[in-house]
Amino acid sequence: MDVDDIRADLTEVLITEDEIHAKLAELARQVEADFEGTTPLLVGVLKGAVMVMADFARELRVHIDMDWMAVSSYGASTESSGVVRILKDLDTDIAGRDVLIVEDIIDSGLTLSWLRANLESRGANSVRILALLRKPESIKVDVPVDYIGFDIPPAFVVGYGLDYAERYRNLRAIGVLAPHVYQ
Ligand code: IMP
Ligand code: MG
Repeated sequence: MDVDDIRADLTEVLITEDEIHAKLAELARQVEADFEGTTPLLVGVLKGAVMVMADFARELRVHIDMDWMAVSSYGASTESSGVVRILKDLDTDIAGRDVLIVEDIIDSGLTLSWLRANLESRGANSVRILALLRKPESIKVDVPVDYIGFDIPPAFVVGYGLDYAERYRNLRAIGVLAPHVYQ
């Protein structure tokens, strides 16, 4: 789905498909260098990180392993609840592994700070975080992020995996959702 297909649902296009891909390539070069000598386990956070994972993993010129977790965030609301629940756990034993969490967005930071602690408690050798987007003005808990794509304003955004009520995940770009859609 392209921006033109749902123009009236967006107030603004924040990041184009080309800009996303260029940024992921840049981050891939950093990750290759930082993880040299080890095979990282990429842990994607369902469902929002599906697009980031698919494109970022293919940018990497080295071997990786891939696994997925699903944790609860918020349903049809646009505000973070702070309640984190595991809906789908890893299939992989991560003891001794170098883990790279792949996330779509850091809003309050609650999800990622919980997830990092959870994975560290399983005996991972290292746990790093890659997030395509971050809303610095919305952060409630400080979570150190190793690789960040773009800092954005505290608006509700959709596209490239990010949804509103499960819609817009298949939008190629990232845009600000128009208030008339959710009010
Ligand atoms: P946090 O725990 O507040 O950092 O929330 C992180 C999760 O909330 C993300 O993984 C997204 O699923 C969701 N989220 C936060 N901001 C947005 C947004 O602007 N659009 C869509 N989903 C969002
Ligand atoms: Mg998410």
